[in-house]
Amino acid sequence: MASCKIGDMDKLTFTESYSVNKHRIWLNNAGTTPVGDIPKKAVLNYLEEYSQYSIFSPSFSYSKIKAELLDFLAEIMEVDSKNLALIHNTSEGMNFLSKGLHLKSGDKIFLLENEYPSNYYPWEHWQRKGVSIIQIPMADSPSLYFDSIKQIISDHSEPNCRSILSLSPVHWCSGIPLPMDEVSEFCKEEGVWLAIDGAQGLGNVKVTPKKWGAHFLAGSAWKWLLGPLGLGVVYVSDEALEELDPVFKGTQSVPNDLEYLPYKTAFKNTADRYEFSTPSFIDWVYWHASLKALQTLGFQYVQDSIHEMARYLCVGVESLGISHSWGMGNIYATGILSLDLNDLYTDKSSVEWKSLLYENNIVVAERMNRIRVSPHIYLNQNQMDEFLNVVSKNFKRK
Ligand SMILES: Cc1ncc(COP(=O)(O)O)c(C=O)c1O
Repeated sequence: MASCKIGDMDKLTFTESYSVNKHRIWLNNAGTTPVGDIPKKAVLNYLEEYSQYSIFSPSFSYSKIKAELLDFLAEIMEVDSKNLALIHNTSEGMNFLSKGLHLKSGDKIFLLENEYPSNYYPWEHWQRKGVSIIQIPMADSPSLYFDSIKQIISDHSEPNCRSILSLSPVHWCSGIPLPMDEVSEFCKEEGVWLAIDGAQGLGNVKVTPKKWGAHFLAGSAWKWLLGPLGLGVVYVSDEALEELDPVFKGTQSVPNDLEYLPYKTAFKNTADRYEFSTPSFIDWVYWHASLKALQTLGFQYVQDSIHEMARYLCVGVESLGISHSWGMGNIYATGILSLDLNDLYTDKSSVEWKSLLYENNIVVAERMNRIRVSPHIYLNQNQMDEFLNVVSKNFKRK
């Protein structure tokens, strides 16, 4: 696999900074990612300074960490940082959007079948208000997804009714990516509001909400962008900032928020109105350190390396005769492979495969009766080989 040396950070150093590698082969980065030494040290330093200087810690000023963190995320998404805010998770962000929209009876919300719950439950309340939720069936390829998105939205569109499409650019179970340039073009042409669940896409594939004309994105930190559990991000377009009701109002929702009195009626005109009050700053320090390390390696390089590892696994499982969902004609690479390791094809169920791999210190996820494998840059080729070796030794075709 390609190696990289940029500044004082290289892939080998980065790999060595993940202690999890001593104990497990962590192939569930589409689920959660363990902490590496770089964010761990940053948090420890922060706590040390906090113990000595309280909120005046010299190396961790609130405004600097926030500005840099948003700048990293802005670079990844190719957006302006004024359109970004730090929140807690995707569900929270999708609720900000869904509860902030002004829809009326007859309007339509389009979701993909079997989306992650964070992009389903926040929309449910609209059904009680006469807004339909229409599900677009799962498909076996990006182009088949696009065909049914076009077909179903066109079939249900009505004059004077508003339509919203909310989707994840990569399916969390199959790993199948959506052809987002085409999907977003279609939404622009049809006047459909586009919302993105970015949890599975950010850091895994190119996610560019502004270029796509998306109105909103919500995602979480703890997958491909190596952040802590319980931290997330929203992108709110200029149009959505104008139109959405902000739902919550707190100390930090207003301009000049450090001046507590007199109270203000206005909201900030930037997306960070959604942060609305005191955040979990330790989480910001953690994510800031991880993103800084990823930026030093190169965000694009990291993404390409993840795809390269997934491709390596894909070639390996193919040589064992195992079918998978990766690649889709090699047009759309992602970091997720979904493998047909189940009792339709082998002598073991997918749950048994997951346990067997775990007994061999390999962590994967079981999703929709398949084994989901998701490598990250801090893994190495020997670990990929070990995974293939364990699968090969235990693989008996039915
Ligand atoms: C597509 C997708 N969206 C959202 C999430 C996480 O949701 P939340 O940030 O609300 O925990 C996941 C996690 O697995 C996911 O795969």
